[in-house]
Amino acid sequence: MWLDQTVDLLRDGYVFTARARRERSSAAAAQRPRYAVTVRLLGRPATVVGGADGVRLFYDSTRMRREGAMPQAIARPLFGRGAVHGLDGEEHRTRKRMFVDALMDRERVDELLELADGLMVEALQEWRRRGGGVVYPTATEVYGRAVIRWAGIEVPPEVEARRADDLAVIVDGFATPVMPYVAAWRRRVVCDRWAAALVRETRSGRRAAPEGSVLARVAAQRGTDGELLDVHTAGVELLNVLRPTVAVARFAAFGAVALAEAPEWRRRLADEVAERGSAVGGPLATAFAHEVRRVYPFVPALAAVATRDTEFERCPIPAGRRVLLDVMATNHDPQEWPEPSTFEPERFLGTGAEWSAPFVPQGGGRPESGHRCPGELVAVGLLALTCARLAELDGRLVRGQDLGWSWGRIPALPRSGVVIAVDAQPS
Ligand code: HEM
Repeated sequence: MWLDQTVDLLRDGYVFTARARRERSSAAAAQRPRYAVTVRLLGRPATVVGGADGVRLFYDSTRMRREGAMPQAIARPLFGRGAVHGLDGEEHRTRKRMFVDALMDRERVDELLELADGLMVEALQEWRRRGGGVVYPTATEVYGRAVIRWAGIEVPPEVEARRADDLAVIVDGFATPVMPYVAAWRRRVVCDRWAAALVRETRSGRRAAPEGSVLARVAAQRGTDGELLDVHTAGVELLNVLRPTVAVARFAAFGAVALAEAPEWRRRLADEVAERGSAVGGPLATAFAHEVRRVYPFVPALAAVATRDTEFERCPIPAGRRVLLDVMATNHDPQEWPEPSTFEPERFLGTGAEWSAPFVPQGGGRPESGHRCPGELVAVGLLALTCARLAELDGRLVRGQDLGWSWGRIPALPRSGVVIAVDAQPS
């Protein structure tokens, strides 16, 4: 227990906590080992929590804080310096309001989804002309272009594509030594400079940002002291909208795999697009997107620090102890999810399960009052429309490609990016 396990975490990735939990549990509890194990990371003990009760504890701001929870070596390249993710109390509430106002307004999100859908249709028409394409890079570019335009950033198309790629490289490399991590940092520096310049130009009036756009909001955002955020921090928060939107492309790749493995759902989603005359917001596609987020790996765990002595599953957690919410295990907890390993979108059809405590692909609790992701409408909407359009496309997986992923590499992605062949249609 007192040997540091940081190297094991780097090696085991998604299965690190599962392994630790299994090793510490009795044979009788092997089917559902308790969550509460204490591991040692970066020279400090950390206690794992999970399941609905673990989620409630983790999101109780009277018992947990975020400051100092995430190692800077990970938080800095991924989120940027001074990002909302590491704030607490009034400072967090003030900053978070901007994200909630910008990202949880359904009408505005629908504008983004329609924009992305138009670009996706164009991209898939190009696939039809060429006889196929690769899901991950296509979705990366489509989401990147859409969110940059929607955020009120007017730049040439080649800049849109380059920034989408930069942001994808940040997400790909932030947790993987050595070259991917170096590449992630390089792109972080480039993107930070770009975003800070956008904020500076907007504030000086040299750049027009449409009212209510994300760019206008971050440029006008003030801290708890009433002063405008410094340009670097405002730029970081602009990227905290653009980067995760591009990252939805990783779920899109998994969604394409899930579609290929569920022909019945492919038909249902294609029929839904035909019946509704739209790929945006279909209930079946939305349920499918939720199940993709539940089943496939993305965020392995989240970190907080206990602010006072507490306990979980009768395991004492002293003040100052790092606490890890096991996201993957919670989304697969057999106590919460019948047949957790089965891909079954029906479990989200009209059940409200997407707001249940043990569904935490993008965090738990409430986005308005805690750290839960404010981008779920965006992520689910993009993923749903992409799955719907891929279902309608009626392509097939190219044989011999490597659809596997490494459980040791965070974040995961099917190695081939998911290559799809489509019968070429005369233009
Ligand atoms: C926070 C996951 C998409 C913006 C988070 C958190 C997770 C997460 C796990 C942290 C929750 C916590 O600390 O308790 C994801 C995943 C996404 C995604 C897996 C899909 C790829 C998005 C999108 C946006 C976004 C599309 C914006 C358009 C944010 C922001 C925060 C956040 C600003 C910080 C919230 C806070 O600390 O209060 N996300 N997210 N995310 N996400 Fe997302």
